[in-house]
Amino acid sequence: MIPLNIIIAIDTKNGIGKDDALPWDLTADLEHFRAITSTTRSPKKKNVVVMGRKTWDSIPQEYRPLPNRMNIILTQNKGLRLPEGVLKADSFDQVLQMANNEKLKNIIETIFVIGGQQVYEWAVKCPECEKLYVTHIHSEFDCDAFFPPFEDIFESIQISEESKEGMMTYHFQEYKRKDGSAS
Ligand SMILES: NC(=O)c1ccc[n+]([C@@H]2O[C@H](COP(=O)([O-])OP(=O)(O)OC[C@H]3O[C@@H](n4cnc5c(N)ncnc54)[C@H](OP(=O)(O)O)[C@@H]3O)[C@@H](O)[C@H]2O)c1
Repeated sequence: MIPLNIIIAIDTKNGIGKDDALPWDLTADLEHFRAITSTTRSPKKKNVVVMGRKTWDSIPQEYRPLPNRMNIILTQNKGLRLPEGVLKADSFDQVLQMANNEKLKNIIETIFVIGGQQVYEWAVKCPECEKLYVTHIHSEFDCDAFFPPFEDIFESIQISEESKEGMMTYHFQEYKRKDGSAS
């Protein structure tokens, strides 16, 4: 199976969004996101980014699809029109099947689940999901979308120094699924 990872930025209460947008403006996090999701060990391969339709809608048109990555949008709207090259899936199983099919599995390195709440809720429970890349923002924001609790299922394997941008402090942390944790 192609490895499946999550990348996410959360506040101190696991808040991730408000009114279908990010509650904060943190350039360092966007750069971190681009580097992690774009980088491959093999120059012949690309990564996949999987997102819910609302997260797709929240990306300004000039920045989507996310370049140098295969974009897969989860939606049950069969009529949804997407730019050429952007793939549509109507279930999580279909995402896994698409990425692991004979044609694609040799050119895909890693699948990154990039949000939002509905999609993260599935991915955290998915036994195939191996790693979390978390940007911890050390403030509490007014949020209406949240990341599910994950500390019982994942353990910390790497933590960065604290950094500051404007009024915000944050750090990057990586987690891996605990051995024997199926969900
Ligand atoms: N902090 C972060 O790192 C981060 C990252 C990403 C997003 N966010 C935030 O998260 C919020 C959006 O989260 P959300 O939960 O409202 O929306 P979402 O997960 O982005 O999208 C939900 C939509 O995805 C589709 N979908 C979800 N599960 C599906 C399934 N099993 N099969 C087929 N389609 C499925 C449906 O689309 P249809 O309605 O078209 O059927 C559903 O309405 C926003 O505030 C956004 O800014 C934060």
